[in-house]
Amino acid sequence: MATLQSMYKKGEPIAVMTAHDFPSAHVADAAGMDVILVGDSLAMVALGMEDTSEVTVEDMLLHCRSVARATKAAFTVGDLPMGSYEISPEQALETAIRFIKQGRVQGIKLEGGAEMAPTIAKITKAGIPVLAHVGLTPQRQGSLGGFRVQGKTSKGAMKVLEDALAVQEAGCFGMVMEAVPAEVASAITQKLRVPTIGIGAGNGCSGQVLVQVDMTGNFPPGRFIPKFVKQYGNVWAESLKAIESYREEVKSRQYPAPEHTYPISAGELEAFRR
Ligand code: KIV
Ligand code: NA
Repeated sequence: MATLQSMYKKGEPIAVMTAHDFPSAHVADAAGMDVILVGDSLAMVALGMEDTSEVTVEDMLLHCRSVARATKAAFTVGDLPMGSYEISPEQALETAIRFIKQGRVQGIKLEGGAEMAPTIAKITKAGIPVLAHVGLTPQRQGSLGGFRVQGKTSKGAMKVLEDALAVQEAGCFGMVMEAVPAEVASAITQKLRVPTIGIGAGNGCSGQVLVQVDMTGNFPPGRFIPKFVKQYGNVWAESLKAIESYREEVKSRQYPAPEHTYPISAGELEAFRR
């Protein structure tokens, strides 16, 4: 957290990546990510659910623990899932405490703007760092009319600004800003004293976040990928190639070769065969 604050003060962009299990956290940590987020997007990318509404606190805690075990350098944040924090600030604090004690992450994230300010204040006052999430908030896609860019009108942009100021005032250490026009996200970032972590919000934010399986290309062809994602690799194609080669070699008895087998001395073998 102190490191993030000093990066922000120096104007050094903060690099954030999601992870959902031990290997995905290990590789993100090794690559030097500043923050590793156990996003509730794991509902889709790791559990095969339709959207994030189905994922439970227990699901999240299991994945948070595995990520925490692999993470040595990055600051870890767990996403509070839908239904675990909206009822009252007390409910939210209870869930946040479980994320720290059982999930073993260092901070939590929750979605929402001005209406969540009392909740963010409650959690931060208990000493738990909160990353807010404004702009497009996927858990509320039902009421937002699907995955829509936010702040595309002057009125909409004003709403994002008001939300950002409210969550800042409530004590969040930073905020994810999702699917907001670049100029709007940049202007809002200039008005704040805590970092914005952009996703689909242009290059004027204080940092960036992407969903790991999206940016490494670890998904089958044909999956919908939002416009803001840059695919830096093709892990799915690499895995497919490797597994197909294995299959070929099993079927043709090329694998295992002698170097993959354990030796036995000629004498022991002779005795065994008798
Ligand atoms: O769930 C998630 O992965 C997220 C990030 C995309 C910010 O909320
Ligand atoms: Na999320």
